[in-house]
Amino acid sequence: MEIIIQPDGEQASQLAARIVARTVREKPHAVLGFATGNTPLPLYRSLVRMHREEGLDFSGLTSFNLDEYVGIPPAHPSSFHSYMWAHIFSNINLPRERINIPDGLAADIPASCRKYEQAIRSAGGIDIQILGIGTNGHIGFNEPSSSLSSRTRIKTLTEETRREAAAAFGGEDDVPTHVITMGLGTIMESRMCLLLAFGRRKARAVASAAEGPVTAMVPGSVLQMHPRAILVIDREAAAELTMADYYLWVSEHKPDWQKY
Ligand code: F6R
Repeated sequence: MEIIIQPDGEQASQLAARIVARTVREKPHAVLGFATGNTPLPLYRSLVRMHREEGLDFSGLTSFNLDEYVGIPPAHPSSFHSYMWAHIFSNINLPRERINIPDGLAADIPASCRKYEQAIRSAGGIDIQILGIGTNGHIGFNEPSSSLSSRTRIKTLTEETRREAAAAFGGEDDVPTHVITMGLGTIMESRMCLLLAFGRRKARAVASAAEGPVTAMVPGSVLQMHPRAILVIDREAAAELTMADYYLWVSEHKPDWQKY
């Protein structure tokens, strides 16, 4: 696991954007895995800016989103479909027919999850999976106790996660109870996992995921088993890392060819 600590979320997001942009330039038919939530917003803004100002070309790409709420129509303002179109898809040239987001309205959810897994395989697998982390350690919506080898499936949200989504739905009671999420096994098959975390409230989850034991109780800790997991975090999210000084030193002393 590579842990890159940046002074603030903006600089961390710009660095993450450079990592994504490098893959997009080197592999025009790359497959990107997208996350939603507050964390990736500055990264998406940077990618949109690179598209507009530097001609970063998404036209050959395919994308897969991590998750979607069950029972929420795509046009609902708080669906992850709406989020993705508002924050990135409307502003880059990724072809609509190669955008994949789990179907929260599927009549047969297990069949649609199997189809989603098959579509990821048919696209050649995910090159970079962008991830955030919940305060309880979840990645995607793999809540604590999720199987470390799980596949795309329906999950029940914890109370903590529903509380955090309450504002978007006008109150906790209106937050859906279920989601479809890529599994931890699905995420682990991505060739690179790029996890972003900003702010003091993420510090405990970041420290547990990066330095704690690998456990289903902290789903993000499974990334310790990934051959190419990069954590890009700000100073506040790094506050509980016991080896923060070492990670900073490593970043500062990277040879030029290893820099992002
Ligand atoms: C979203 C997702 C979640 C979020 C996590 C952090 O697609 O899969 O794991 O990344 O809940 O959310 P924010 O970034 O809003 O703190």
